[in-house]
Amino acid sequence: MLLDAPTVDQSLHAAGYRRVDPQEAHLRVDDLGATRGDGVFETVGVFAGRPVQLQPHIRRLQHSAGILDLPDIRAEVWQEAILAAIDAAGGGDLSVKAVLTRGVEGTGSATGWVLAFPAPDSQRARREGLDVVTLSRGYASDIAQTSPWLLQGAKTTSYAVHMAALREARRRGAEDVIFTSTDSFVLEGPTSTVVLRAGNELITPATDQGILACTTQELLFQFAADRGIAAVARPVPVQELRSADLVWLCSSVRLCAPVRAIDGRSLPLDTELAQDFLTYAHREG
Ligand SMILES: Cc1ncc(COP(=O)(O)O)c(C=O)c1O
Repeated sequence: MLLDAPTVDQSLHAAGYRRVDPQEAHLRVDDLGATRGDGVFETVGVFAGRPVQLQPHIRRLQHSAGILDLPDIRAEVWQEAILAAIDAAGGGDLSVKAVLTRGVEGTGSATGWVLAFPAPDSQRARREGLDVVTLSRGYASDIAQTSPWLLQGAKTTSYAVHMAALREARRRGAEDVIFTSTDSFVLEGPTSTVVLRAGNELITPATDQGILACTTQELLFQFAADRGIAAVARPVPVQELRSADLVWLCSSVRLCAPVRAIDGRSLPLDTELAQDFLTYAHREG
């Protein structure tokens, strides 16, 4: 169901955003976001009406727009629009998408919108865990340095490859994916960040390997720090993933879902951290 939500008007002359009916047409068929996937976006998780990590999401939208040479966003307008969308949706558990595209071809004016809709149910994933396959991303872990035009580290609207990887996982009888680099490092999931537990330490792949900086993992590491658990971001060789005590996939709406099997090999399932973190995210996010 689409909910009433405001549209952010990114045109240089406009003061802010306006609320529109999402059931009506707004996006033009010659918008470069639609025709070329040329844009950036964020998905903000909302729990009991509260957005989690709102500022980090807005900062990442700003960062992604910068990488794509899109206009600098006005953070306060996006923040207000997101809060208004949550309000218009009546609160509760929501997923809020904030999108900025290069706009209608030839106009030089970006298109932006915010849409809030009910969050998909993530209970089962958090409780029972995920079956995951590793898939090669087809490039080396230094991609961001060697080929910056590939826009690594930006959250672009070009997610066709990410969605294809998830379909490949389903063909293999799994539900989710962990991408690996051609030089055998762990990268990220198509829509999530990987966190491992080895002994008493939480480990996540460092973002200088061309992966997205994750707002949920940032909050998870804050949660770990509050509990005196060591947490580090560094390159993670694939064999370390295979020998990890526990693995989670973290993202804004599902939060941290435990992984119960990788490439058919079972892992111990700890749903406790996922549940504790859920409570923490509701409170601190
Ligand atoms: C490629 C990728 N990595 C990581 C994440 C997790 O980021 P966040 O927790 O900030 O949503 C996402 C989220 O959609 C993603 O698409």
